[in-house]
Amino acid sequence: MPLIPDPASAEPTALFLRACLGLPTERTPIWLMRQAGRYMPAYRALRERHDMLTLIRTPELAAEVTLQPIEAFGLDAAIIFSDILPPLVGMGLELDFIGGVGPHIANPIRSGRDVDLLGTPPAAETMAGTLGAIAIVARELGPRDVPVIGFAGAPFTLASYAIEGGSTRDFERTKSFMLAEPAAWQRLMTKLVTVQVDYLKAQVQAGASALQVFDSWAGRALGQSDYRRYVQPYNTLLFAALRDVGVPVINFSLGVSSFMEDAVACGGDVIGVDWHLPLATMWARIGHDTPVQGNLDPVALLGPWRELRPRIDEVLDGAAGRPGHIFNVGHGVLQRTPEDTVRRLVSYVAERTARVATSP
Ligand code: CP3
Repeated sequence: MPLIPDPASAEPTALFLRACLGLPTERTPIWLMRQAGRYMPAYRALRERHDMLTLIRTPELAAEVTLQPIEAFGLDAAIIFSDILPPLVGMGLELDFIGGVGPHIANPIRSGRDVDLLGTPPAAETMAGTLGAIAIVARELGPRDVPVIGFAGAPFTLASYAIEGGSTRDFERTKSFMLAEPAAWQRLMTKLVTVQVDYLKAQVQAGASALQVFDSWAGRALGQSDYRRYVQPYNTLLFAALRDVGVPVINFSLGVSSFMEDAVACGGDVIGVDWHLPLATMWARIGHDTPVQGNLDPVALLGPWRELRPRIDEVLDGAAGRPGHIFNVGHGVLQRTPEDTVRRLVSYVAERTARVATSP
């Protein structure tokens, strides 16, 4: 045995990172998808003075937004403030966020030739603002032992915005392109994997202690057979490329509960669970040796405490105190969420899960 432990192999002390590794924690860690954003007056005040892309691209501003919910609620991890779509800009797509509408791409992909014109420049060049913001937040939160989470979109979810030019209800253009141009689909998905892998690795270099991959729309858009054929190979490539990245990787695939096993098979150290089925059901299907994150319905945060509390209890009872559970919402926090409800959620989860310290 070496006298001095290798710091790289030492167990982390941060509750969130311990849970990501399936290690016991003194209470259940909690953070919330979309924890920084429009439900916070402090965010809205900054947004009045700066547009979305300026907030994302200015390291000091993105760091400030990232820290807002940490200061306000004492969450156990900080997800870097950005969006899944800015990496598309470096590839050649003209992205904007339009108030009341959402993301808009002025030159969406409509042909195989459009795919071939997409670049794959390194994230160090195209995402320097976010990488700089991660460095600032990591420096700020390191002494408090609060980890920073980096993130990226999965290839199908990004392809849907690149092809539709914005949000969509039925994914008509995306699926038509996928079916009509399978070779171009393969080239598009491969380019997206290349860009996202490089970006996620760069976020770790910049100071991220964990990564989350958001596949928000593959499960909503596709049935199982198409998922297996047009999505699974690329998500599998993405997670395989991150296997040695040295930090836990969370696989959050929304809307896949009817074929969860296929999404889990793609990879990831932690599985993010959406709110459609009880956590107990999902964790049993995933297997209790794999850490999970979830899965409160974010709409429950809009209602009264008497309706919210049993739903929080259902998640915690579903986890049954096993190590490897990270409390989260089952999709992003909504704009109308009251800050006081978030505060109450965080303290309730802490109180209910505090485990009596036992001497070894
Ligand atoms: O979680 C966090 O706090 C980090 C920040 C974050 C944002 N978007 C900020 C944001 C993260 C992780 C995302 C991910 C994201 N973005 C996803 C995947 C997760 C999910 O919700 O399924 C998707 C699909 C997007 C794309 C996107 N960005 C849409 C559809 C919209 C418009 C709808 C909306 O909610 O406004 C955005 C804009 C966006 N991303 C805002 C924020 C705070 C609102 C922008 C504003 O201030 O006007």
